[in-house]
Amino acid sequence: MTAQTLPQTSPEPLFRFRHLLGIEGLQRADIERLLDQSDVYVDANRQGDKKHSSLRGRTLINLFFENSTRTRTSFELAGKRLGADVINMSVATSSIKKGETLIDTAMTLNAMHPDVLVVRHADSGAVHLLAEKVNCSVINAGDGTHEHPTQALLDALTIRRRLGHGLEGLTVAICGDIAHSRVARSNIHLMAIMGARVRAVAPPTLIPVGLERMGVEIHHDMERGLADADIIMMLRLQTERMKGSFVPSIREYYRLYGLDYEKLKVAKPDALIMHPGPMNRGVEIASEVADDIDRSLIREQVEMGVAVRMACLEALVSSQVAPWAKNQ
Ligand code: NCD
Repeated sequence: MTAQTLPQTSPEPLFRFRHLLGIEGLQRADIERLLDQSDVYVDANRQGDKKHSSLRGRTLINLFFENSTRTRTSFELAGKRLGADVINMSVATSSIKKGETLIDTAMTLNAMHPDVLVVRHADSGAVHLLAEKVNCSVINAGDGTHEHPTQALLDALTIRRRLGHGLEGLTVAICGDIAHSRVARSNIHLMAIMGARVRAVAPPTLIPVGLERMGVEIHHDMERGLADADIIMMLRLQTERMKGSFVPSIREYYRLYGLDYEKLKVAKPDALIMHPGPMNRGVEIASEVADDIDRSLIREQVEMGVAVRMACLEALVSSQVAPWAKNQ
């Protein structure tokens, strides 16, 4: 197999930061450059020979303090397709004394000279802390309820490719467990930067305090929240993050907030359905809606994930050699 080097879509540097810790703080041009480069990799990933060379000789460590299937696999594939050596480390959260052990683990790995660390951790802010201590680039693969930047980027790419234009002016309804969702937070930042209107639709118990300050329209009723929406993003009830009871019962939650064809009627007739996965069928979404081949983008989101992560890895590795690259 030959390792190919794909052209960058622009002569500009792909990214101006050393780390990718969140969407907050990025500008529209930063996001658009990453999405343009991701487009190149979507096409390349559909070919037989998927191997490239921009990360040849580089080491990528996936350091996951929380369980993950799709995100970890996606980063692993992305690193391998770019020619990097990839190591996966899963650290059971239960055995971790937070703070000290996190930094100890990071420093141990740092001593092995990785080029990129991809980190997921149950505590908001843990990945930022770690990024301050290591010499390599760090990608946040999800920290607590804070941010999950590559998920928001892959969501944006999925929408852009399906619609054939940017996100400007779209009405995006993010529905479900927003209080515990880093996916929601990263998407709210991204949608605002890209000029989309965001609605948060959830029972009051699942709306985080202060959300209105993020420029989001809040609805507690699906009929109002979904009215004329272009994009509907459903979120999982993240019971593992809940301390106490947030919904009366799963049955009641599905009746009021589960996305089915009946509730979908008020959205735009061609409204598209998204979900970051893992999905709880019959809890936040009806199976037939999730599997609707015309309107559900859930499979595409997974495909876009690999391409976006390839673009992000390449961007960070190329920013490492740029003396001007800033810490995010
Ligand atoms: C999300 C996460 O881990 O934040 N999943 C993902 O990355 N695909 C959302 C979730 O766990 O519900």
